[in-house]
Amino acid sequence: MTSASAPGKIILLGEHAVVYGRPAIAAPVWDVQATATISAAAPGQGCSVHAPDLGETWQLATADEQQPLIHVLRLALTHLSLPPNPDWRIEMRSTIPIASGLGSGAALSAALVRAISAHVGQPVPAASVSELVFASERFYHGTPSGIDNTVIAHGVPIWFVKEQPPQPFTPGADLTLLIADSGIPAPTKLTVGDVRRGWLADPTRYEAWFDQIAALATAARQAIETGALSELGRLFTENQQILQALGVSSPALARLIGAARAAGALGAKLSGGGRGGNMIALVTPGTAATVAQALHASGAKSVLQTTIPHQ
Ligand code: PMV
Repeated sequence: MTSASAPGKIILLGEHAVVYGRPAIAAPVWDVQATATISAAAPGQGCSVHAPDLGETWQLATADEQQPLIHVLRLALTHLSLPPNPDWRIEMRSTIPIASGLGSGAALSAALVRAISAHVGQPVPAASVSELVFASERFYHGTPSGIDNTVIAHGVPIWFVKEQPPQPFTPGADLTLLIADSGIPAPTKLTVGDVRRGWLADPTRYEAWFDQIAALATAARQAIETGALSELGRLFTENQQILQALGVSSPALARLIGAARAAGALGAKLSGGGRGGNMIALVTPGTAATVAQALHASGAKSVLQTTIPHQ
């Protein structure tokens, strides 16, 4: 039996603009994980995939190619020159909330690729895991930038520009973050499509917003690397204002962001596709409990505290 895991992720700054070639910053969230476990099935049974959290089971031989996990499974088997339908029972588990901006789909796919690689004893480098996962991301996203698969496959904080190798970097101070779920499911495909329609209708205005987000991401990278937390908080909040202008925030997210700031967060913004899903608040170990309480009181469905460690 072989198991492998992959983390959830958050985008710290730069979502949406990253689809248009601007830089974004993302980090893994190891507090939530997807896990794939492969065990031998009886000879001739072929490969089955069980996802009890989703209430789904697929037989590889007959499963729909449009199913993202099945798609990535077939790609991984081909990539590793393995038989197309091995006698395996694969179980997928995840503690990452679905459709909430934490990269659950990419993490499931990455865990699956890693489990196959470990099971057959053929190492797959992070860049190849990322590529295989990317191929399944388009089912969730339409036109994904590639940031989710990249940060999840590499498992470290990254500076990301579409179609370029990611640049891993390390914070100069621990980043303590609260990730609050608005409880509203928000498929990324929808908000990415809305932004695209806006951009097509008024490219000049949207390009200017994307440039502003790029400048904030650049400043944020420096703030993270030097441990300038108050500055980083301010940049989060400025990024949120532009996301609001882009139309990807929502009253529920705005309420959570306002509550976090009023309770002492250094800054707060939505994270990921927006509209629903998660927001993030930059806090300190001293303010985390008060801010978490304020988020619960303002309707957060769940609040997760995570630390992106300095080195
Ligand atoms: O909703 P998420 O966390 O998967 O993030 C989407 C990030 C976007 O920039 C909105 C889309 C993308 O492909 O980068």
